[in-house]
Amino acid sequence: MNEQRLAVELPGLTLKNPVMPASGSFGFGDGRIALENDLNQLGAVVLKTTTKNARTGNPQPQIAQFPEGVLNSVGLTNPGVKAVVQQKLPALRTKYPDLPLIGSVAGESVEDYMIVAQQLAESGLLQALELNVSCPNVAEGGMQFGVDPRTITKLTSLVKQQVDLPVYVKLSPNVTDIVECAQAAALGGADGLTMINTVYGMRIDPVTRRPAVGNVMGGWSGPSLKPLAIRMIYQVAQQVALPIIGVGGISSAADVIEMYLAGASAVQVGTAQFSDPLACWHIIADLEEELDKLQLTSLTELRNEVKEGFLNERR
Ligand code: SIN
Repeated sequence: MNEQRLAVELPGLTLKNPVMPASGSFGFGDGRIALENDLNQLGAVVLKTTTKNARTGNPQPQIAQFPEGVLNSVGLTNPGVKAVVQQKLPALRTKYPDLPLIGSVAGESVEDYMIVAQQLAESGLLQALELNVSCPNVAEGGMQFGVDPRTITKLTSLVKQQVDLPVYVKLSPNVTDIVECAQAAALGGADGLTMINTVYGMRIDPVTRRPAVGNVMGGWSGPSLKPLAIRMIYQVAQQVALPIIGVGGISSAADVIEMYLAGASAVQVGTAQFSDPLACWHIIADLEEELDKLQLTSLTELRNEVKEGFLNERR
């Protein structure tokens, strides 16, 4: 493998390849798949969203799987920032001294976000933060903040003043104007964007006549999200000069290429891991062959090919 072909430089992040598990898929690197496999082969790892206090999450079932996707109403289950900083992060960092780690931040209030961001940053164990302003499974904070451009700007700017790490804002697709939200993050001083989080959805079990997840509604993810993610990434990439980490329905190296062609500079993989727990590793292994097929020397070359003006070609 020619390492340079897949290498990616993003604010605060030097990645050997563009593929990272999305927040929530690998916990804090302490789940079975993470423990049994070499995380050093991944571009980076995004940790489970962390809040000020521990959260047990929403009523069970928190996850419902369907052939066409997954509905989750997890509710940001995590042990709280103190336990993350004192136990989870040191254990992961000791095992992987050089692996780029991205902390994910959420809270019920702006102050919560600032406290969590500050404590994660002060650990000195992370390369970047992702602001989760898009979780649809919590009553306060999360998506409630991420659908209001003024709140996105305020939150991003306050967190940026608080920490000495690059900040990526994870945007919600549950908005009318995604470009306005991305511009709001840029105005607040974001270093990059992660997009998109899950679509707010609902399923009902015909046998039990009950909602499929305990919190009634939840976040829908999987391959059916990809066209929406591609559209939103494309729209934002045309208007906002921030690097984009693309997420939404990626399950193959071809999907990574498509995300790049929309304007992404790296990707996160989430739901694909339900059917293939080693999806990140498999996608990385296939990427060079995919570049060969397209006669591309590197991902950077591909990134430079992003077309401007598809919209102007419409009749
Ligand atoms: C959750 O924990 O509810 C899922 C994470 C998210 O939607 O951001």
